[in-house]
Amino acid sequence: MAMAEATQKSSESCDVTRPQFGSRHLKSENDVFKHNAWDNVQWTPDQEEQALAVVKRQYSEKLSEEAGIKIISDASGKWNSFYEKHDAKFFKDRHWLFTEFPELFRGSKHNSSVTSAGEGVNIKDGCRGQNGQTKFLEIGCGAGNTVFPVLRTNDDPDFFMYACDYSSSAINIVKSNPDYDPKRCHAFVHDISSDTPYPMPDGSVDIIIMIFVLSALPREKMAGAVRRLAALLKPGGLFLFRDYGRYDMAQLRFKSDRCIEENFYCRGDGTLVYFFTSEEIRSIFVGAGLVEEQNIVDRRLQVNRAKQIRMYRVWNQAKFRKPDLAT
Ligand SMILES: C[S@@+](CC[C@H](N)C(=O)[O-])C[C@H]1O[C@@H](n2cnc3c(N)ncnc32)[C@H](O)[C@@H]1O
Repeated sequence: MAMAEATQKSSESCDVTRPQFGSRHLKSENDVFKHNAWDNVQWTPDQEEQALAVVKRQYSEKLSEEAGIKIISDASGKWNSFYEKHDAKFFKDRHWLFTEFPELFRGSKHNSSVTSAGEGVNIKDGCRGQNGQTKFLEIGCGAGNTVFPVLRTNDDPDFFMYACDYSSSAINIVKSNPDYDPKRCHAFVHDISSDTPYPMPDGSVDIIIMIFVLSALPREKMAGAVRRLAALLKPGGLFLFRDYGRYDMAQLRFKSDRCIEENFYCRGDGTLVYFFTSEEIRSIFVGAGLVEEQNIVDRRLQVNRAKQIRMYRVWNQAKFRKPDLAT
């Protein structure tokens, strides 16, 4: 596996069984290799400065505008090749989502063992569908590593899940999963950077889930994509977001010939990735008319105990709600 792919895989799948963000802190440097990961790791001023210098150098040696435009226009085909090569085997099921986003449980029969606090979370506490059926929409669903755990967990008849991706290969993988039931789920090909209408009406979705997807869009396409998605939410509906953060190890490892724009890169396999600050995320989502409920930087030190290696990871996690003007 190429280095870029290995980094992507480790960044998006290694924390499948971890406890909720923020619960394990490194108090003494002597303990660093006693666990695989530490939360809320403070960076030293030197570390920040070095990261800034790396990113500045990458940008000063970035690809030509022409090369960048070509790479961006080829990106959807690259995701198709990615799923044709890896099928459903690359990303692991994202069970950690239920720890970070307990709203994904609607109080079905499994819900009593869900959250880190041991509490079942009924969607009434979050945003239950008012007209009987509750509808979730996952954006950039890939091979279904979120879709199927969510469907398995919310197993009652008034729950429905939409899932889209602009890779037709990804959607074919989702539809050929033995757990894919068209009565409970609709997977469809959709490019969120386009203004092609979605198959559901505005104001009809309770929760939108977008995990490591917005980062695949060029910066100038992000706000429009989020605005169109926010329109799909019911009043009171929730947008759940997680993606790469500024100066994540994956960013600092890129060679300059992978830099397309500031903080925007092309991986070895031709897929694209942007690294966000929480202020940028706030500006995009609040600009789409949503209200911030959470916007955290998940700074984690992962260690390879066998090789005694430290990996400084940075992810952003956020929740934004659509105002309910009636309440
Ligand atoms: C890093 S993968 C994450 C997949 C999945 N969300 C997960 O967490 O396992 C990014 C996904 O976003 C999809 N994607 C990228 N750009 C997109 C776009 N403009 N519209 C829809 N999907 C897109 C890709 O095809 C890919 O499946």
